[in-house]
Amino acid sequence: MTKPVWIRHASQLATLAGGSAAPARGEGMNQLSIIENGSVWLEDGVIQRVGTDADLAEAYSERGHEAEIIDAAGKLVTPGLIDPHTHLVHAGSRQNEFNMRLNGATYMEIMNNGGGIHSTTAATRAASHEELFTQSKRRLDQFLLHGVTTVEAKSGYGMTLSDEIKQLEVAKKLHEEHPIDIVSTFMGAHAVPREYREDPEAFIDLVVNEMIPEVARRKLAEFNDVFCERGVFTPEQSRRILEAGIAHGLLPKIHADEIEPYEGAEMAATIGAVSADHLLRASDRGIQMMAKAGVIAVLLPGTAFFLMAESANGRKMIDAGVAVAISTDCNPGSSPTVSLSLIMNLGCLKMGMTPAEVLSAATINAAHAIRRAHEIGSIEIGKKADVTIFDVPDFMTLQYRYGINHVDTVVKNGTIVVRGGRLT
Ligand code: NIG
Ligand code: FE
Repeated sequence: MTKPVWIRHASQLATLAGGSAAPARGEGMNQLSIIENGSVWLEDGVIQRVGTDADLAEAYSERGHEAEIIDAAGKLVTPGLIDPHTHLVHAGSRQNEFNMRLNGATYMEIMNNGGGIHSTTAATRAASHEELFTQSKRRLDQFLLHGVTTVEAKSGYGMTLSDEIKQLEVAKKLHEEHPIDIVSTFMGAHAVPREYREDPEAFIDLVVNEMIPEVARRKLAEFNDVFCERGVFTPEQSRRILEAGIAHGLLPKIHADEIEPYEGAEMAATIGAVSADHLLRASDRGIQMMAKAGVIAVLLPGTAFFLMAESANGRKMIDAGVAVAISTDCNPGSSPTVSLSLIMNLGCLKMGMTPAEVLSAATINAAHAIRRAHEIGSIEIGKKADVTIFDVPDFMTLQYRYGINHVDTVVKNGTIVVRGGRLT
């Protein structure tokens, strides 16, 4: 039996309470529901009570000695951070392409010449389960050290039935064996693989007729994603792929308007996607349509930063009533980072979001983007005991002192997994 964990005297306890039924929008994204001198009791993997320290001291006057007490005086306590968009499971590394881009090549040129997603696909196809597991587990450990307790993970570097399944099986094993929870997305339509260059429709047939049914049958993913981009999959092709997923119970997500405006946001709205992600070049009409349809915008300012492109206009989207979440996009080509904290910093500095909005975006709205808001994303009674403690006195300082990993303690499912900034 693990001991109860009692977090006491938080200078700010940002509960994010009240948003489980629907994602925060507009002014709601600034509401963090902060308790000063806050306290939380975690037991049996669940949040049992949350309030002021005086309230909990009274409630647990008899049982206080049973608990492992964490003194959070001078610190900020938040829900465990949630990363709703990663390409976690992959092999290899692309620092050479980074260097090529710094010498003038573009991301799409590199990809169209057989590098980019294709080079990670070659490395991932060649890797064994064990190699993929080991490389991905290392990234997950780093996510945990950055205060992240749940991660969405996409396939898409296999692009054959067996290699896509290999990636998803590794994600499943990581979910079972690593403290971080993983939510899986099938993304067979991440690119048209080289061997189908002359006949992309045949590849789409394979995705629609073989991969999606098999992934769904084996329950290896909950979501289905597609890279809708000029030179990759058209909006029409993307729609066909997402509709095939829907028919098999896989909820649609979409990489939309990342490099060029391509009416991806519009398509996300008309198909009823759970989220549209990237949106650097989304049109005003697309943004309006997303707000109306309730599609969550998952914004990835690290990708814009790393591709040296202009970020998505998070400010405009929030003001238009779109629910915004943010994520690392962790992948070897366009955003090789696990630092959701840095991503929050960029959300403020490059997308015009406030410190409160980026925290909503990385917690409760990120939970909605992966359909987990009933169990994570806020510190409320009955939710999972996933809590991150930052060594900063308030939520503004977390963004102000940028580029620093301020994580002190992480509790996952009621167990202390990071203490003093180190894995336990
Ligand atoms: O989200 N845009 C497509 N997929 C990834 C990049 C994948 C890669 O370059 O390996 C993204 O940016
Ligand atoms: Fe991505």
